[in-house]
Amino acid sequence: MSKALKVLITSQKGGVGKSTVSANLAAYFAYISGKKTSLIDFDHQATSGKWVRKAYPIGIDCKTVDLPNAKGSGIALLKAKEALRKANESSEVVITDLTWSDVLPPDFLFEFDLVLVPSSLSRVELDSTLEFVNRFSYVFNSRLKTPPKLVIVPSRVDNLDTYESIFSKSFNAGFFLSPPVMYSTSANEFFGTEFFVMTSKKEIRENFLEFGRSIEQLGEIEADLKSAKAGDVRQSSLTHKVSGSILDRFRAIRNSNPTAPVRAAANDSARLSTTTRLKSAIPSFLMMGGD
Ligand SMILES: Nc1ncnc2c1ncn2[C@@H]1O[C@H](COP(=O)(O)OP(=O)(O)OP(=O)(O)O)[C@@H](O)[C@H]1O
Ligand SMILES: [Mg+2]
Repeated sequence: MSKALKVLITSQKGGVGKSTVSANLAAYFAYISGKKTSLIDFDHQATSGKWVRKAYPIGIDCKTVDLPNAKGSGIALLKAKEALRKANESSEVVITDLTWSDVLPPDFLFEFDLVLVPSSLSRVELDSTLEFVNRFSYVFNSRLKTPPKLVIVPSRVDNLDTYESIFSKSFNAGFFLSPPVMYSTSANEFFGTEFFVMTSKKEIRENFLEFGRSIEQLGEIEADLKSAKAGDVRQSSLTHKVSGSILDRFRAIRNSNPTAPVRAAANDSARLSTTTRLKSAIPSFLMMGGD
């Protein structure tokens, strides 16, 4: 039975900010939320693992597991699942850093509660994110198994005006949009040594705190859904297939009435609080956008 919140940070593209988000999100959960946190670094270069080992020690349990991106990775995959299982038993939060490779079975995604895909807002990276998400939309839209929640993480964002461009992109899976992790020259300077949530640079710290909080809230929603499911309450309204652009998705959530019953279970208080939390997970800067 799954215990920890399991978060995968992945993308098939290099250099998008996976390791930066992984190391710093682990630090958010360990240092800010005081949760027992594990980081599993599946990447050959082990960037986030090195970061956690080099930075100020805050009790993150760090494992590096080499997951080869060549054919014949069957045993490696078993080892990866075993590392996840162990971390799941000993931690409250498991953060996993992985460059996606096509030799990995898409079913591996079902091991996680949240799948975070960092992407800058450049056309090339967005197109790659779009391709990745659409290719695995059957996982994120699955009705047979509990699907992981998909979160697009705008990463290395230097200009919020260009944020608008993301709205025209069309995704075939339901997803959440996190607050952006802003680009910062000094973030680049202390790459690999200092955690964003602990730096004296206020802008970087506060930006990452907002991001971390939104992921934590989504994790709480996920935990609520799991316990609702254990009580045999249908959770279709939060996991049903949603297609369309990010803007469509955002409007769909924003326009839903928090006091109205969500499909069945009108008198289920857990469901109502879940819906309210879902709304509060929407980044405030998006709420400011016009109607
Ligand atoms: N918010 C940020 N502000 C400034 N620079 C950043 C930020 N996030 C990442 N970077 C820089 O972008 C580069 C790539 O970041 P990172 O290593 O986290 O990406 P990655 O997706 O893990 O890369 P790889 O595919 O090589 O594992 C690094 O030089 C890092 O310093
Ligand atoms: Mg990396």
